[in-house]
Amino acid sequence: MIVEDEWIIAANLKEMLQGLNYEVCSVVFSGEDAVKRAEDDRPDIILMDILLRGEMDGIEAAENITAFLNIPIVYLTSYTDDKTLQRAKATDPFGYIIKPFEKRELRIIIEMALYKHNMEMKLREKSRQLEELNRNLETKVRDEIEKGRKKEHMLIQQSKLAAMGEMMVAISHQWRQPLNVIGLLIQDLEEAYAFGEIDKCYIENMSRESMAQLAFMSNTITDFYNFFKPNKDKVSFDVNQAVEDVISLVHVQLRSMDIHIHNAVVSGIATGSSAVAGLVIKGYPGEFQQVILNILNNARDAIIKRRQGGEFATINRGEIDITLRRDPQKAVIKIKDNGPGIPDNIIDRIFEPYFTTREDGIGIGLYMSKVIVESHMGGRLYVENSENGAMFTIELNA
Ligand SMILES: Nc1ncnc2c1ncn2[C@@H]1O[C@H](COP(=O)(O)OP(=O)(O)OP(=O)(O)O)[C@@H](O)[C@H]1O
Ligand SMILES: [Mg+2]
Repeated sequence: MIVEDEWIIAANLKEMLQGLNYEVCSVVFSGEDAVKRAEDDRPDIILMDILLRGEMDGIEAAENITAFLNIPIVYLTSYTDDKTLQRAKATDPFGYIIKPFEKRELRIIIEMALYKHNMEMKLREKSRQLEELNRNLETKVRDEIEKGRKKEHMLIQQSKLAAMGEMMVAISHQWRQPLNVIGLLIQDLEEAYAFGEIDKCYIENMSRESMAQLAFMSNTITDFYNFFKPNKDKVSFDVNQAVEDVISLVHVQLRSMDIHIHNAVVSGIATGSSAVAGLVIKGYPGEFQQVILNILNNARDAIIKRRQGGEFATINRGEIDITLRRDPQKAVIKIKDNGPGIPDNIIDRIFEPYFTTREDGIGIGLYMSKVIVESHMGGRLYVENSENGAMFTIELNA
């Protein structure tokens, strides 16, 4: 677009531009017209004479246009006083063409202005994208954190359910024996009646034995309940007692598979009493017991796998050794099995969520155990292969 009030110059300029293969969309003679036509025609560039007759000079017209439209402006000037030039400069023009000018100059200045404008647009777009990216990044980070929290929560629930399933199996094993005994007692009662053997002594015996069996069953339920009781605050608890409680829940089931658990407290701490001095730490006993249960279940699965042979030398009797040790600063629990051990190529991955090599495994047992021991209780959980099978170590700060 040309804004020039001397029509001879305007016509000359138009011809030159067309000669240079530019398209001239409009030629206007006043600042007011320039503002109006710029809005309608949206030219790629405006060649603006500074001194225009009428109310509005070129500089003011340029200010009006650039306030609303993103169009590069090049001023056309002949002799101009300093003050005007300063005003022109303040509008940040893309160049000046000093009258009179030649075709070659005109072309260079227009091309430079278009190039500069193009670059500015790109830059503006890039910084807009960058700003948006920044904003998105912030929300993304927030979303991811939230997602992570949700996922962890879900995993905790999932592993609780899995553990609960395991416990149900353990309880059903625990109950088989006392239910059998009670069944036999009732059978015997019928026979005793038929043979007239029922007397006070018989009744007393019968009732004592039944109550003993019921007490045993009821204990199982109490253990089970303690195990799943949610822990809100850290409490002091005896690590040895907690381990023994888990063992008492699962040992019947394990024994039925010819898997035997040995547990011992080593290194200078008096054994025998149920609360072993020095093995009391602060933490979450229910969650800690879940860790022990996860590791015991894995040991059981590993032993069964080794029994099935395949690539491993088979064994018959399953052994799980648990040792508890009190170091000056921490309690150390080691759980060792005589399964096949963990192959070198996966040993770094077994604590990852959903990593499993078992057909019906979910792969969250060890992940959750690590979260519980390390994030919730500030301890350490790691694994190594012993001379025979895997060995897991839990370190808890006293
Ligand atoms: N004592 C062990 N001996 C050999 N391999 C083991 C032992 N414990 C764990 N692993 C390996 O680590 C993997 C991950 O164990 P993790 O307890 O996390 O999951 P999982 O037992 O497969 O499934 P689930 O979620 O049901 O516990 C197992 O699939 C197994 O390959
Ligand atoms: Mg497991």
